[in-house]
Amino acid sequence: MIISNYFNKNDNDTNNKLISYFNDLNNGIKLKRDDFLYILDNINDEVFSVLQSLAYQKRKLIYNDSVFIRGLIEISNYCKKDCYYCGIRKSNLTAHRYRYDKNKIYEIVTYAYQRGYRTIVMQGGEDDYYTKELLEEIIGKIRNDYPDVAITLSLGEKDYDTYQALFRAGANRYLLRHESASKKHYEKLHPSFMSFDNRMQCLNDLKKIGYQTGAGLMVGSPFQTNDDLVEDLLFLQEFQPQMIGIGPYLRHHATPFKDMSNGKLEHVLVMYALARLIVPHALLPSTTATSSLDKTGRLKALLSGCNVIMINLSDIDKRKSYTLYENKSYQGDESDEFIELIKKDIEQANMKIDFSIGNYRK
Ligand code: 5AD
Repeated sequence: MIISNYFNKNDNDTNNKLISYFNDLNNGIKLKRDDFLYILDNINDEVFSVLQSLAYQKRKLIYNDSVFIRGLIEISNYCKKDCYYCGIRKSNLTAHRYRYDKNKIYEIVTYAYQRGYRTIVMQGGEDDYYTKELLEEIIGKIRNDYPDVAITLSLGEKDYDTYQALFRAGANRYLLRHESASKKHYEKLHPSFMSFDNRMQCLNDLKKIGYQTGAGLMVGSPFQTNDDLVEDLLFLQEFQPQMIGIGPYLRHHATPFKDMSNGKLEHVLVMYALARLIVPHALLPSTTATSSLDKTGRLKALLSGCNVIMINLSDIDKRKSYTLYENKSYQGDESDEFIELIKKDIEQANMKIDFSIGNYRK
């Protein structure tokens, strides 16, 4: 159980020490392993509000009131990887698989552009149907037809040449969660044919090539300890990704982890706020998993330093097949009710909906 003292009371000395660490982070001072561990071991409900308001202010200082809206296309749920937590792992023979061909992707991109989206996120399982050449063609056409759109890819691990070719074809950003910066923990979440070192190599490659690069992790994933989360925080502090994807672990019935408990919203919010202070300029989405866990999740995420929301543009029947975890929110762009809910949260957080390209600022 992580951050396990969250609902305990602290003495004043402990609270003061926590607050002085928050102030250090807020002032750009790097923390050490033991400092982060102290935070995670001792943070509680009471003192979280201090951290949260620092994160909120930091985000405001850098990005003003914008909540950047991204259009998400889940292009394929075929996957050759076999992550123990994920509902679209290759060993899940009950998953209903689908993939979009290039014309379907263009169709959704056109729709998105007309609706005002200026960032398109193409996300999918690791599906070899999309060869380097096919992806170059798809990305090249979108780049040509819509020069003012940011193209974000989230297609897993590829070799350096492929990443570079896709960048040259016109992709700008790449999301690849590191999942765990502790090798030991990473290996508990993945089968032995998946390599922690390769994951880290990929992230380094992406950054070197020039992508705005996104790392990230699940909070409350099986076997995760505060020590593991500290490794994640140290990694974020060093790597300084331009984007950070964080959400709770949520169980899926057709995975080896089906009996493991879900992550907790309070812990996710702590990680959002720390991520904001550790990487002040990060684009930090309030993720679908966070909204799926709790209907107050999105608002609380915006109040804790988040400044991005991704809206699902895939067809509704396909969305149901893209099930990484149980109770995933299937609502999306076609539902006005959904946009209204989002707008309400954004207003409540005193922020503004922003469809512009929303690049990383530095
Ligand atoms: N719960 C929460 N997040 C998950 N992901 C995959 N499976 C789950 C799950 N069961 C996340 C992983 C992956 C991203 C696409 O979705 O972090 O990188």
